[in-house]
Amino acid sequence: MPPQARSRMAEILLFASNFVRHPHMLGSIIPSSRFLVNQVLAPIDWEQARVIVEYGPGVGTLTGEILRRMRRDAHLVVIETNRDFVRFLRTSLQDPRLHVEHNSAAQVQAVLHRLGLPSASYIISGIPLGSMPEPVQADIAEKSRDALEHEGQFLVYQFTSRVLPVLQRSFRYVRRSFERRNLPPAKVFVCATQVPGGWDAS
Ligand SMILES: C[S@@+](CC[C@H](N)C(=O)[O-])C[C@H]1O[C@@H](n2cnc3c(N)ncnc32)[C@H](O)[C@@H]1O
Repeated sequence: MPPQARSRMAEILLFASNFVRHPHMLGSIIPSSRFLVNQVLAPIDWEQARVIVEYGPGVGTLTGEILRRMRRDAHLVVIETNRDFVRFLRTSLQDPRLHVEHNSAAQVQAVLHRLGLPSASYIISGIPLGSMPEPVQADIAEKSRDALEHEGQFLVYQFTSRVLPVLQRSFRYVRRSFERRNLPPAKVFVCATQVPGGWDAS
């Protein structure tokens, strides 16, 4: 087996074995498909983005692609609660622009402050918000909004639409789309407090 296929297989096995132990924390048995990755990352203006945060990177399926696309002087902060994934990311992705934090998404502001970084241009969330109690969803949505710069965007992908009312309470603009080429098919929400360029403001 070629080395690239072998490392992809190791990622899938690590992910699936953690799904067996923590099904509610992961929400899916395999990492996101490249179709979903492309759709979630599509709104990002890579020239402008200086600080990007990712919640729940898992084995780094989006992380690697973000690093590939982002500026050489940008920072990527990934926040993950699962210790196995944190250890895996710290050894497999060696990039000076990457900060791997063993913490919860709810601590985003404290993490940025400790790293001495300004507000984020984008926060990308792959955590199963819809399976969390509503006050926890609301807390993470509000803290994410407050950790974003003025024109920042919160990019959320989920396997249900349960989180939608919470997102709509925290963000004035929420645009929905769907990616069926993923297991399971996923909903994608782009959330902002200022109308993003190219959107109809009505
Ligand atoms: C559906 S997996 C997504 C993994 C990867 N981003 C992908 O798309 O393939 C959800 C991830 O969120 C992590 N997670 C769950 N709750 C979290 C929280 N409150 N803060 C940070 N990470 C969390 C889980 O450990 C898991 O790695």
